[in-house]
Amino acid sequence: MYEATVSAPVNIACIKYWGKRDTKLILPTNSSLSVTLDQDHLRSTTTSRVDESFEKGDRLWLNGKEETVKEDGRLGVCIKELRNWRKIEEDKNSSLPKLSQWPLRIASYNNFPTAAGLASSASGLAALVASLAKLYELPQSPSELSLIARQGSGSACRSLFGGYVAWREGSKEDGSDSLAEQVASREDWPEMRALICVVSDLKKGTSSTSGMQRTVETSTLLKERLNIVPGRMEEISKTIKSKDFENFAKITMKDSNSFHSVCLDTSPPIFYLNDVSKSIIQVIEELNRSSGEIIAAYTFDAGPNAVIYSLEKNIGKVLGVINKFFPQAEESKDPFKTKSEDLPESFNQNVVRQGGWEKGSVKSLIHTRVGDGPRTLGKE
Ligand code: DP6
Repeated sequence: MYEATVSAPVNIACIKYWGKRDTKLILPTNSSLSVTLDQDHLRSTTTSRVDESFEKGDRLWLNGKEETVKEDGRLGVCIKELRNWRKIEEDKNSSLPKLSQWPLRIASYNNFPTAAGLASSASGLAALVASLAKLYELPQSPSELSLIARQGSGSACRSLFGGYVAWREGSKEDGSDSLAEQVASREDWPEMRALICVVSDLKKGTSSTSGMQRTVETSTLLKERLNIVPGRMEEISKTIKSKDFENFAKITMKDSNSFHSVCLDTSPPIFYLNDVSKSIIQVIEELNRSSGEIIAAYTFDAGPNAVIYSLEKNIGKVLGVINKFFPQAEESKDPFKTKSEDLPESFNQNVVRQGGWEKGSVKSLIHTRVGDGPRTLGKE
């Protein structure tokens, strides 16, 4: 039996992917850019095994529960393509064992509750692709592997890299140039922190997959957004390379708001933000105003949970305001044991809408930071 175990990180986009020009190949209507989060804290781990003696047919378990692998489904397509790449190597070198002909057994786990409302598909699919690539000893680069992960779930292609990652939309019909690449490594800007505010752990009402297609079909505002995003991609890449947090934050918040605006412009409209999410926006805007500089950026994916980016030196202030206005219901995860700092003196508490939420409406916080790409693990 041959076996490989790989873990892959979660990523949270600053420039959002929202819309496909090809739903089968998963080709996006715009490029996107994300920060990879530290897999010491949040990760998916996948073990893949292959053996001649396994009963026919591939089998897969997600968090201990068996899922059916449909041949033409997203997972099936990823497995098929990686198998083809292995086959090419076996054809080139006849001494290689014929792993491509043997059935697979794949088990994947998230170390965070899927119910935390965090995108588990990105880290899960990236871990699956990276573990099969390792098992099959494929020579392909992470960017080439991202072409496959993309077909499992668009945002998964960005989880094949650490640091700051762009997914280039590409222009070719076959999708061969729609891939992820690293803009900067974790080491280039290691001070980046992320505070995840878990507002709701309920499954989202409208999935990203169906929501984004409804937007493509019905939103006129999306066309405007698609004109603006290329400029934002260029600018945010510059801010990352020059470690310019203020402008990084401005673009991140603008793009999150632009994404939720096109959701509202969809028919029927899609609401991902709730009152608590909106209050978090107000609190962060006021924190930035009263600090006299932009020290925090909020961003929201397809749900009400906030991710707040801030630099190490300012994260105590961010925690201070969040703890003051959103006392959590459950214990939070903070491996850094950061001390909350007091509100800035000029913080105007009146701008924070009172009564729109109750104590405990933020369930918990997860404090993490920028992280590295997939890791190959020994036997666990
Ligand atoms: C709002 O990657 O989950 O998180 O390609 O259909 O699987 P599919 O969609 P998915 O969409 C993610 C949307 C987003 C923005 C982002 O991560 O860029």
